[in-house]
Amino acid sequence: MRIDVVSIFPEYLEALNISLLGKAQDSGLLEINVHDLRDHTFDRHKTVDDTPYGGGAGMVMKPEPWALTLEGILEQSPVERPVLIVPTPSGEVFSQPGAYELAESEHLIFACGRYEGIDERMFHWARERFDVRLMSLGDYVLNGGEVAALAMIEAIGRLVPGVVGNPESLVEESHSDDGLLEYPVYTKPSSWREYEVPEILLSGDHARIAAWRKEQQAERTRTRRPDLWTKHQNMA
Ligand code: ADE
Repeated sequence: MRIDVVSIFPEYLEALNISLLGKAQDSGLLEINVHDLRDHTFDRHKTVDDTPYGGGAGMVMKPEPWALTLEGILEQSPVERPVLIVPTPSGEVFSQPGAYELAESEHLIFACGRYEGIDERMFHWARERFDVRLMSLGDYVLNGGEVAALAMIEAIGRLVPGVVGNPESLVEESHSDDGLLEYPVYTKPSSWREYEVPEILLSGDHARIAAWRKEQQAERTRTRRPDLWTKHQNMA
C-alpha cells in the first residue's frame, strides 16, 4: 500500500518510521511519503494561509499549494482515483470497520489541515480527482490533522496483510466482529504484590477459560460502553 501525507509540519509524521509501521516500510509492505505543503508556495514567507472572506476568527488555508502538491502525488499514483482523506472534526467518525475498508485501498493520501480549515474550493477541485473522505477521530478538537492522520494510518496500516506478524492477534481484539471489548489479560508471576491471577486461568480448562473470557468481555462492554453493549445485543 502507498500512503502520502501532506502537512506543514512533516516532522510530526516521523513517528511513522518506528515500530511496526517502520518495519513494514523497510520490508516494502508499506510505502509512506510525507510532503511539506510549503514546498509548493512561491513567496519569501512560504505563505499557506490568509484571512477568511466574510470575516471571523483565525486563518484559512489557501487552495493553490494543496492543488499543486496533490497534483504531484496524483501523477505518481498507482490508481486512477486515489482516496484523499481529510482529517477534520466535522467529518464522519473513523472506526474499526472504516479501517478495514480503507486497508483494502492501494493508495491513500492524507491532507492535514491547520488553522480554521482549507478553502472550500479545494474540496470541489479535489472531488473531481479523488475519492474525498472527511474523517474525524472523535468529538473533540485537535490543533490540526497530523495526530489524527497518525492514528488512522496506524489503525489502517496494521490491517495490511503481513504488517502484524501474527494475524491471529487481530482477531480477538476490541472493536472486532462481535462488537465486544477485549477481556482482561495477565502474565507471570501468578502472584504479584497482594494481587492474584484469577484461578480459572491457571486451571488448564480451555472451555471454561473461553466462557469466563466471554463473560468478562460482556461485563466490561456493558459497564464501560453501554452504547456498544446495546448494539451487540441487537446483533444477536
Ligand atoms: N482535526 C482537528 N480535530 C480533529 C479531529 N477530532 N479528528 C480529525 N481531525 C481533526
